[in-house]
Parts: sequence; structure tokens; C-alpha cells
Amino acid sequence: MVSYNDSPAQTPVYLDKTAPVEERVKDALSRMTLEEKVALSHAQGKFSSAGVPRLGIPELWMSDGPHGVRAEINWNDWGYSGWTNDSVTAFPALTALAATWNPALAAVYGKNVGEEARYRRKDVLLGPGVNIYRSPLNGRNFEYMGEDPFLAGEMVVPYIQELQKNGVAACVKHFALNNQEKWRGNIDVEVSDRALYEIYLPAFKRAVEDGGAWSIMGAYNQYQGQHACHNKRLLQDILRGEWGFDGAVITDWGGAHDTREAALNGLDIEMGSFTNGLTKESEFTYDDYYLARPYLELIKSGEIPMSVVDEKAGNVLRLIFRTAMNTDKPFGSLHTPEHYAAAKAIGDESIVLLKNSGLLPLDPAKVRRVLVVGENAVRPLNQGGGSSELKVKDMFSPLEALKAVFETVDYAPGYKTGRAMYEAEDIIPEAELDSLRRDAVAKAPAYDAVIYIGGLNKNGFQDCEASDRREYNLPWGQDRIIEELAAANPNLVVANISGNAYAMPWLDKVPAVLQSWYLGTMIGPSMADVISGKVNPSGKLPFSFPRRLEDNGAHASGVESYPGVESESDAGNAAADLAGADVSLGKNPRQVYKEDILVGYRWHDTKKIPALFPFGHGLSYTTFEVGKPSLSSASMGADGSITLTVPVTNTGSRAGSETVQLYLTDVKSSVPRPAKELKGFEKVSLAPGESREVTFTITPDALKYFDADRHEWVAEPGRFKAHVATSSADVRHTVQFDYK
Ligand code: GLC
Repeated sequence: MVSYNDSPAQTPVYLDKTAPVEERVKDALSRMTLEEKVALSHAQGKFSSAGVPRLGIPELWMSDGPHGVRAEINWNDWGYSGWTNDSVTAFPALTALAATWNPALAAVYGKNVGEEARYRRKDVLLGPGVNIYRSPLNGRNFEYMGEDPFLAGEMVVPYIQELQKNGVAACVKHFALNNQEKWRGNIDVEVSDRALYEIYLPAFKRAVEDGGAWSIMGAYNQYQGQHACHNKRLLQDILRGEWGFDGAVITDWGGAHDTREAALNGLDIEMGSFTNGLTKESEFTYDDYYLARPYLELIKSGEIPMSVVDEKAGNVLRLIFRTAMNTDKPFGSLHTPEHYAAAKAIGDESIVLLKNSGLLPLDPAKVRRVLVVGENAVRPLNQGGGSSELKVKDMFSPLEALKAVFETVDYAPGYKTGRAMYEAEDIIPEAELDSLRRDAVAKAPAYDAVIYIGGLNKNGFQDCEASDRREYNLPWGQDRIIEELAAANPNLVVANISGNAYAMPWLDKVPAVLQSWYLGTMIGPSMADVISGKVNPSGKLPFSFPRRLEDNGAHASGVESYPGVESESDAGNAAADLAGADVSLGKNPRQVYKEDILVGYRWHDTKKIPALFPFGHGLSYTTFEVGKPSLSSASMGADGSITLTVPVTNTGSRAGSETVQLYLTDVKSSVPRPAKELKGFEKVSLAPGESREVTFTITPDALKYFDADRHEWVAEPGRFKAHVATSSADVRHTVQFDYK
């Protein structure tokens, strides 16, 4: 006979949402068994980890990805579950968000993608990604925010803050040094502390310290011979020791390889072990995970102290209290008009006008007959690309959007590629490619204008996870198609879609070039509105376009720099082999980031190798004048600051936005420093004739470099230059001041 206590039960502290989180964690731990604590630290399914059923503590549900909520995936394999209620909004890829240079849009992004993750009942959204764009061949650059740590940091913070207001944790990835996909599963990255702290860590640091990220995803690669998912220096010394991270560290799927390291070096939740994170399944049970039975055995043997167990379980409980057990979170919503409007606004502001000899915008009142060429005008680019792929409710293609704008719009593919994830099977015969090219070129002269929409796509070895590009030029014979179209019709607009830079041997023959991105659901309306002039482009490149691949710092320094070198010794490959061979594993591969701190424009400027199109570049349909800047003082002390004010005027005939960029140079330093570094930017929207003053506050922090020997940031006294620019290569004014 169960006796029911009729006095009102005292709510246990861990269930009391008004109690301080740390009290709730402590109380929950005190009630949990050892087995329950261990269960919190590893997957129970493909995308979920355990709660504590006996105590009513819910499990954690995770989902990709950074650009929208991935379709439901099966319990124990990578297959899709075929639900009918998981179609979502595809938001623009994060490269596009970075190209807006508009942190307010990053907040809009986080809010809207968070509402969709909330509605899909996900506790952890596996994104955003902030790995630095080091090589234009990296298959996943489209998921990240470009080559500069300051830009990536400024853009990631609002995304995280607004996402997490939905009770959904950001899981900032991939921490750290996952800057290529080739051999991602085991490559051992060697990088100087200066480059680590000045280039590769800052965006993660901002995400933790300013964004307040509730979780971080460990990367697949190794650093200093230890896998990033249980790397003592990255996770214990830096993430928790220096940054005070109080969230949970989650592996990339299959990123754990050792129980002792996973237990002692700061990993909290092990996911996807013995798989390759995309296609290969595991024949092991979840109890076989490194942080399952083997971990339990080490604890029982006394090798792992309970303090470690409680810290790990506590980090997971804290994540659960913030998400799954957060009773104040909203209910979310899915593919709403507001979400579509947000995706459109971000897309509109992301498109970069690279070149315009006056052909753009194409006025529909004058340009009546248009030929659209290129597979990306119709291809559903939300598919493929790896874990960030999305099942959409709507995908408005560029072709259909252009048909709604211009009187007559015809289409010629020009080239054809394989289906996403089936490209190995879908080999297109050369004869078919030839006829597609000839057909498009033959049609071109009969039209008022031709709009070429090609670029890359989400197929393997293009903009795709788990493989890098094999060439810097556009694939599938596109350079020839563009050259021949330009000869057939001088009114050619090239509007490529990609997440990476590429060569443009045809540039001198093309009057107008737009760089568009994987903009998701609203890609068509955004591109059509920019091409037709309804939207004035204001995007700026978040990464450099080298003229040639060898002009890029990572590729100028030999194979050890990129893609790295393999060695016969099998050390470090054992676990990787267990994960099953795939394109991302090599024989004990390792690489050295030889360009060091000179990544992207830092390389181009310092080595005086001009980029084809520089970081921060982007034109407008109007013109702007950037006036002479003034400084509040000619010098600054260690506890001071200087205000730089600069007038910006719209000197053209239509409204538009300009992004004023502030770069700083240490005129004379005791260590090598880049020619200049981005330390501020502001996007201003101006009506024709309107002027506005932009103000930057320069503090000593902006002057510092990382002194690896002293392990601290140092600003050396001396002369500094402040460059006011509209791109890293277009400096309008330079002023100088002294740091004393
Ligand atoms: C993949 C990716 C990671 C993703 C995870 C789950 O391998 O590297 O970004 O979130 O596995 O799909």
C-alpha cells in the first residue's frame, strides 16, 4: 500500500526555476547515481543525449545547423525520418551574413533561426561556425564568417544572444583550427601561439565572453597531437581557464577517440562516436562510447575522481536547465512571413557588387528580353553541402524571381552538374556539356541582356563538408561559357553563387559582376531585386578573392602548409580507422600554418600582392564620399582612448549604404605585424545628398599584438596609423596618433 503524504511536497531545489542555477546543479547531482551522471555525457541516439528519467530531468535534443533547422534524422543512422512537419526556412549561409557587415542583421538572424529551432523542439542548434577562412579551397567556408577575426567576432555575438533568448543553445563550432575539410578527421595542425590567439581564437572568445554561448563543439582535427574534442590546452587551459566558459563542450560527431583524454581534458558530451559525421554508421552501441562503459569503469577503478564526474555532469545539467528545463522559453514558429522577410533582408544586404561599368541595374522598363544562363539559376542549393543541408517549405529560385521582374525571360542551362550527394554517379558526358554551352551562346545575341548565374554548388569537392575543392577555377567549363557569352552579347551580367573565392580569367570581358551566396529560401527575390535595382547592393566581401591560388598565404607556403603532408607511421590513426575510412582521413596527416598571422588581406597587404577583389570590397548603385577624419587627441595612454570621427556623404542620386572600415597600423613594432588590421566598421544608410558622421573609439586593446613569450596582449608605445577605408585596399584617409 503506497502511503501518500498529504502535506504539500517541497519542490526540490533542482526543479525550482527561481533557485540559482548552481544550487539547482548541486541539488540534482546530490540525487543522481553514478550511472546517471555518466549517462549525461554521451549520446543515446544520433542527435540526443540522456536526461535523468527518474528525476524528471529531460534529455537534450540537438540539431544542425547554422543556417536553419535540419530535417529530422533517424535514431541511429544518418537517414532522414521522412517527417511531414519539418520543412523550414533556409536562411542565408553565414558567409552571406558576414557579407552584410551589419551586426543588427546578425541579431535578426539569431532570433529567427532560434524561433524555428524552438518550434522544432530542439535544445541545441549546432552552429554558428566561426572557423577562419584560411584557404579558398576549404569545402566549408560557406558556413563560416570570413577571413577576419574582428568581423567574425562582431557578427557572431548578436546571433548567439538572440538565438539563446529562445531557450536554444548555440553550439559554436568547430573549436578549433578546423580550417579545411581534407583529412579533417585526424590532421594535426601546427600553428604559432601568435596566430592562434590573433587569428583563430578571437571569434570563439567573443562568442563565449560576449555572446554567452551555452555550448561549444570540439573540432575533428588534432592540435599539438591531441584531438580537439579532448584537447587539454584548448578546452581546459584556454576555453575554461582563460575565458571562464561555463557551458558544455560537445564533440563533433565522431570526434572523440580516447576515454582518459575525454574524461580529464574537459569534454562534456560525446556524440556520434565511431561514425564519420556524415555517412558512416557505428556498429557499436551507445554503451560502448568512450564516455560510457569505459568511463564508468575508470571511475569505479578510482582512476577518474568523482570531482571530474560531477564537474562534467554539472556542465550538462547547466545546459539542460538553460534549455530543455527552461520553462520561460517561447514556443517558436516555423516558416513565417517574418522569417522569410528576415532571410530576404539578410540576402539583400549580403550581395556584393564587385564590378559595374554601368550595365547594372538592369531597368525592366528598358531591358525587356533577358536570357538567363547557368545551373544555379534553378538549382535547389539548400540540398547537399553536408550537415548544413535543409528541407525547405519554399525555395524561390533566381530564374522564377527574374521571370516576375522582366517582360521576357528565357533560360539556357549552359552547363549541368550531378545531383547533390550523387555527383560521383551523375557523370555528365562531355558532348552534353558542349551542346549545353553552344546552345546558350547561340541564343545570347537575341536578348537585351544575359544574366549568368553559375559559380559553385554543394556537391562533393565544391562548397561541401568533408572534402575540399580540387581547383581554384570555376568547375564544369564555366570560364569558357562566360568568355563565349561575353563575346556573344556585351550586356552580360555575371551573378555567381558560391561560398568561396574563385579565379576570374574572363573579368576584363565582363561589364558587371555580382557575388551572391547560398541565400536559401529567398535567394531568388534577393538576387532579382539587386539585379533590377529595386535593392541597392551594399554587401562587402568577408574574404579576399586572390587573383591566383598561389597569391593566398596558405597556398604560397608549400604542401606542408596546405593541404598538409601524410606520414607512414600509423600513430594517431587507430581511432580514426575505427571511424571508418572516408574522404577526410589520411595517414597521420599534419600541417603547419606557415603564413602564420598573415591570413587573407593581411597577406595581400603585407606581401604587396594585390587581390583581384580585396577583403571589404563592395560597390553600390550610388556613390559615397568619405571625408577627412578627425581625432579627439594626438596621443593616447594605457588607460585612455581616442575618438575618430569621419563624415560620410551619399554623393549619388539614390539611397544606399556604405560600410566605413577602420584599419590600424603599428608604424614601428618590435615584432612583425600585418600592414594593417581591421579594428572597426560601421554601415551607414544615406539618402541622396545626406551626410552622417561615423565615430570610432580606439582603445589600447585595438593596438595590441599577442606576445607568445609573455603570454599576454601587448600594446607597444609609439606611432600608430588609423586608416579610414571602404575596403582593405581602398583607404580614403590616414591619420596618425601616438600611444604613450
Ligand atoms: C558533422 C559536422 C558538424 C555537424 C555534426 C552533426 O560532421 O562536422 O558541423 O554539426 O557532424 O551533423
